[in-house]
Amino acid sequence: MTQESWRFKDRHGVFQLKHGDESNYLYFPLVNEAGMMSAVTPTLHGSITSGHNTFLMEPISVESLHNSNAARNFWLFVEGEGAWSVSGNSAQQQGLKFSGQEEESEIEAGFLWHKLTRKHKKLGLKAETTNIVPPSEDQVELMKVKITNTSTEAITFTPTSAIPLYARSADDLRDHRHVTSLLHRIYTLSYGITVKPTLSFDERGHRVNHKTYTVLGAEGQGKSPIGFFPIVDDFIGEGGSFSWPKAVVANMEPTAHTGEVIEGYEAVGGIRFATVELAPGQSISYITMMMIADGDIEGHELRNKYLSEQQFDTWLTLTEQYWNDKLDVLSFQSGDSDYNLWLKWVTIQPILRRLYGNSFLPYHDYGRGGRGWRDLWQDCLALMVMEPAEVRNLLINNFAGVRIDGSNATIIGSQPGQFIADRNNIPRVWMDHGAWPLLTTLLYIHQSGDVDILLQPQTYFSDAFHRRCQVKDKEWNVNQGNHLVDQHGHIYKGTIIEHMILQNITPFFHVGKHGNIKLEGADWNDGLDLGADHGESVAFTAFYASNLKEIVKLLLDVHDRSNIQKIALAEEMTILLDTLSHPIDYNSIDAKQALLERYYDSLMPSISGKQLELDIVQVANDLHQKSMWLTEHLRTNEWIGNQEGYSWYNGYYNNDAKRVEGDHPNGVRMTLTGQVFPIMGGVATDEQVKEIITAVNRYLKDEEIGYRLNSNFGEIQQNLGRAFGFAFGHKENGAMFSHMTVMYANALYKRGFVQEGYDVLNSIYKLSANFPVSRMYPGVPEYINAKGRGMYTYLTGSASWLLLTELTEAYGVKGLYGDLQLEPKLLAQQFDQEGLAVVETLFADRKLRIEYENVDRLDYGKYQINKYEIMLNGNKVSSLPQEQVNSEFKCVLPRALFTELDTGQSHTLKVKLGRV
Ligand code: G1P
Repeated sequence: MTQESWRFKDRHGVFQLKHGDESNYLYFPLVNEAGMMSAVTPTLHGSITSGHNTFLMEPISVESLHNSNAARNFWLFVEGEGAWSVSGNSAQQQGLKFSGQEEESEIEAGFLWHKLTRKHKKLGLKAETTNIVPPSEDQVELMKVKITNTSTEAITFTPTSAIPLYARSADDLRDHRHVTSLLHRIYTLSYGITVKPTLSFDERGHRVNHKTYTVLGAEGQGKSPIGFFPIVDDFIGEGGSFSWPKAVVANMEPTAHTGEVIEGYEAVGGIRFATVELAPGQSISYITMMMIADGDIEGHELRNKYLSEQQFDTWLTLTEQYWNDKLDVLSFQSGDSDYNLWLKWVTIQPILRRLYGNSFLPYHDYGRGGRGWRDLWQDCLALMVMEPAEVRNLLINNFAGVRIDGSNATIIGSQPGQFIADRNNIPRVWMDHGAWPLLTTLLYIHQSGDVDILLQPQTYFSDAFHRRCQVKDKEWNVNQGNHLVDQHGHIYKGTIIEHMILQNITPFFHVGKHGNIKLEGADWNDGLDLGADHGESVAFTAFYASNLKEIVKLLLDVHDRSNIQKIALAEEMTILLDTLSHPIDYNSIDAKQALLERYYDSLMPSISGKQLELDIVQVANDLHQKSMWLTEHLRTNEWIGNQEGYSWYNGYYNNDAKRVEGDHPNGVRMTLTGQVFPIMGGVATDEQVKEIITAVNRYLKDEEIGYRLNSNFGEIQQNLGRAFGFAFGHKENGAMFSHMTVMYANALYKRGFVQEGYDVLNSIYKLSANFPVSRMYPGVPEYINAKGRGMYTYLTGSASWLLLTELTEAYGVKGLYGDLQLEPKLLAQQFDQEGLAVVETLFADRKLRIEYENVDRLDYGKYQINKYEIMLNGNKVSSLPQEQVNSEFKCVLPRALFTELDTGQSHTLKVKLGRV
């Protein structure tokens, strides 16, 4: 049977999907700021947790979604008929699968609520189950089950809700699953069941536990249950299971009542309600509350707060309001309304990643909740536009993770600016890590005009590792703390610009045999982890080259705009600014490596703490020379061609110091990453960009899968990375990996290849939204696999990049040192019938609605902004003079225009596009 697609029900992004349970890997996120993290599937499966050590329902991976029966459930024992599950999780309902007799079911979901409707046709019963995690201060999930008699006869049934209570750390799933059940103390309250294990056994040791895991239930008007089944054994019965529990199937009497304590068993929130008779057309609702708390719960207060239909409905409204308010700060209205709504679901993704980290959704069954360094910076990109309030502090705090050797801490604490030393293993250095902070900080500076951030002082991270983790100081101990101290024992602080220069200048010297920056532990592609000795990432060499260029521009702009003549840099850094005193030959690999060693030596046994005031133009000049050298080097040595006559940039050298890309007996080898950064940063010339596009279309573009991350190398690559151990077409081995594909689009837009950039973004949308194949809800997946399925949904850095590319490139709305720059790169088809394309965004703390009016629906290249007819709230405003902007296609509006406006409301900027 071909699966029907989801479709949008309204203009707010609510979507509906029939027979959601006929797609195995679907899940939907429910989450709040208090730290409740749930996932819910079309059969109401999925974990409920507040962290790695506090799972209310079992931690699960995607395969358990269909293979385990430990799901949220709500049962009816219907007189004359037997057991029926509102989630479709009874053995009988499962038995209808593939028979053509499947029950009718439908998912409806919005921001952020999930509703499952199932119908028992023969009986004429309809069950609507809605789940939310309310925006309250509690770690709580609520579920309302509404049963309606749609038949013409009265129906009598006995309801039982059954939420398995795992109540412990994810570590205990395999390790001591049984022993940890002996720690359980299960209490029956008047409305439900709470589990408070005596101890927690996890990585932190065996400690007294204070967490409680609770399931409460009430009939919609607040009426209490009539009894409980708190122990899994008793509930399912010998030989039974969660899909055929004896307590329900045999309609047993409850095994427990209020006020009992049961010790040492697997628990379940089995809650029995009184038998009811529903007249035709009549409905009844039941509310279930699932909560993780820091101590004993106040049943009475919680009942008043959550446990009635009225309360549930209020929380549902608040939930929708909360998320809609959040998402309202960024929205796009192009000619394709489905695309606009799909983008709304992408818009929520960066917030989800902030809340879930990289763990706690079914595909993300790894990690303990934290985020990596790279994600820290990349997720900021979209958050900067959507949740800008805390960004400045966040950025400054993040810089505290940089080491004085240009590398950085990779274990990130739960508080902003908290970085933790790796005490055990030799940690890896990801060579791309140093490149991202500049990009994010530049975006911030341009959005806000806050150049001052560059001069803010910040500490450096210090631990046992030196020389980009090549040397471990055995003497170092954790009591020394993680701040770099100078020779006098004072904590050393350098400016933010010092941190950024260091991050981008040390890699320049850290080169392999071919003069490119060493791959070290890996680059952006975590799977390229086997080239630490001789591997080189040409791709990221291009990124660092353009970063150096950007820093030069930044320094000179700062100099021109603010007349700052000098910057203070750590005295030792002058070694790295070699052209200021003792220039070395950049063509000599040895000279570069020796210079870096000299710099490392100068930091031993500690940094002096002295800073030198250096002429900003001279520093810029040094960096300029480095950037130019890299650019020339890449253009001369890494631009390759093959027998079929295609040309592109080689992206890597492997651990045998052999070039990776080009013709090969197993087939042509090419990576997308190798192309993206030379394009994005201007290393590739315009002519080369054209050739790259042709080569990408030849070797990486697949009609079914989209733009692949790499071509098929045909064998594992023990000298490059584990990624090639993955089957081809999956994850970091040749899937359509959204993050890199979006960056490819971004790069193409930046270079003015607008149609091509659009085609790339559009292909991601089309692949993701093609439900019968992608089998995912609206949003962008981490990747599209060999079968076309959307994988690792919701938590992916590609969402940030996608939004940013739409906003700053396609709609062309971005800051320029705090002023507002407009440079739309929209194609004719992106305007609606009236010739309008609208983006709503925050700028200067004001909500702006920017309306581009292109009445003749001219294509990109044929229109330009009519600078004399820009209207802000109906009044004509003037842009900065052309000579200051340096492009006839751009228009820049001074920030002062916006800072005068009221912060409480939305303001409209009408921008007419006329023929060129
Ligand atoms: C994930 C990681 C990201 C990494 C990428 C490639 O991508 O989060 O840091 O660079 O894999 O290995 P994401 O899931 O964010 O799209």
